[in-house]
Amino acid sequence: MQLGYLSFLSAVFSAATVVIAQEVHGNVTFEVRWNFTAPIETTDIKDAYEEAAAVQANLRIQQAINTTQTYTECLTNPSDLSPAAVYALKNCIVAENPLAFFTLLADDISASTDFWDGVIAQSTTDLTQFVPARTYVRGYYGDALTATDFAEWTLSAYADEVDLDVNPEHYYKHTIVDASGGAWSQILEGWGGVLSSFGTKRTNFTIPTYTIPTFNGSEGGYPTQWAIDSSFNPLLQRIGPKVLPDGQTMGFLHIAVRDVEATATNVSAVEIYSAVWYPPYDKALSADHEEFVTNYLADESHHMVVEIINDGLDAAADFAAASRRRRA
Ligand SMILES: *[C@@H]1O[C@H](CO)[C@@H](O)[C@H](O)[C@H]1NC(C)=O
Ligand SMILES: *[C@@H]1O[C@H](CO)[C@@H](O)[C@H](O)[C@H]1NC(C)=O
Ligand SMILES: *[C@@H]1O[C@H](CO)[C@@H](O)[C@H](O)[C@H]1NC(C)=O
Ligand SMILES: *[C@@H]1O[C@H](CO)[C@@H](O)[C@H](O)[C@H]1NC(C)=O
Ligand SMILES: *[C@@H]1O[C@H](CO)[C@@H](O)[C@H](O)[C@H]1NC(C)=O
Ligand SMILES: *[C@@H]1O[C@H](CO)[C@@H](O)[C@H](O)[C@H]1NC(C)=O
Repeated sequence: MQLGYLSFLSAVFSAATVVIAQEVHGNVTFEVRWNFTAPIETTDIKDAYEEAAAVQANLRIQQAINTTQTYTECLTNPSDLSPAAVYALKNCIVAENPLAFFTLLADDISASTDFWDGVIAQSTTDLTQFVPARTYVRGYYGDALTATDFAEWTLSAYADEVDLDVNPEHYYKHTIVDASGGAWSQILEGWGGVLSSFGTKRTNFTIPTYTIPTFNGSEGGYPTQWAIDSSFNPLLQRIGPKVLPDGQTMGFLHIAVRDVEATATNVSAVEIYSAVWYPPYDKALSADHEEFVTNYLADESHHMVVEIINDGLDAAADFAAASRRRRA
């Protein structure tokens, strides 16, 4: 049904031959690409995906509330399935108990761990055969945000604070940065089920290490195929394993950020690369493999676009507030 909704949207766009080369949110123009050399996407990605994901998240949370008869006071308007409604619902629930979703979504968590264990078991272990969910999102922030600002912000307490509000599919995030700048995160979030048929995989995982990567294809480094364009400064990149509660690694998260200089026509931009490299599921039934590498990976790439845009706008707002405080 959600797939139908997105297909419907693209049909409307093509029927009207409307070509939107960029999307604008909060006065910032964004350009989305699925890889570095790909053309800019011509339909708006963020709002359509966020709305479709919000319907699913809203219904799942409502069902959990209704089944357990807990947090019923948070469900003030069940017919509102918008992103704003799911953000308000989640915030009301965690205001009572920051760990609420680990209980409310316990069934989803165990089903998801089983799903990813299956993907791992039915995959070649060679990292060079892994497959990416990834996107490049460029936001024309001008002076409001730089690449260094964004990299710093993602490891700050602010990023955890707004986590529930940047994606309907986010349920928990807690990050600890150590003295050497290394980070540990615990995360509960879902992906899938909007563009793919496996359903939303609400997954409880940690990123126990999140460090500056080396792509040298040898022990301790990552595959050379995972390296990105040299315009991305290695120091503004991090990579870390996504580890399930049973200790298995389900994939590797790689984030990079760079400045794009202003031109005669454009203010300066911050370009963010986000990728998760997954086991290829190449030993699964061919229909499941196909579903995974096409629709599932597309699902998670779209999820990333929502999050990058909302995070970037929040980061810019935090820096604006901080500089106002400094000036005051
Ligand atoms: C966007 O820009 C317009 C015109 O400069 C301004 O009125 C409006 O408040 C801005 N909106 C945001 C969200 O910054
Ligand atoms: C990058 O995107 C283009 C256009 O969508 C596609 O033809 C190409 O295969 C992609 N390259 C990689 C490495 O995914
Ligand atoms: C949960 O219960 C409320 C109140 O009875 C109802 O309006 C809503 O439709 C229910 N939601 C789901 C997903 O069943
Ligand atoms: C590859 O990179 C890793 C991590 O930096 C390092 O430990 C290892 O020595 C490197 N291997 C080679 C052959 O350079
Ligand atoms: C979530 O994961 C953490 C650590 O990986 C684990 O301690 C906790 O029990 C898990 N919770 C659930 C509900 O699976
Ligand atoms: C950036 O500049 C190019 C070349 O002039 C133009 O085609 C493009 O629309 C501009 N993008 C933005 C977001 O202003």
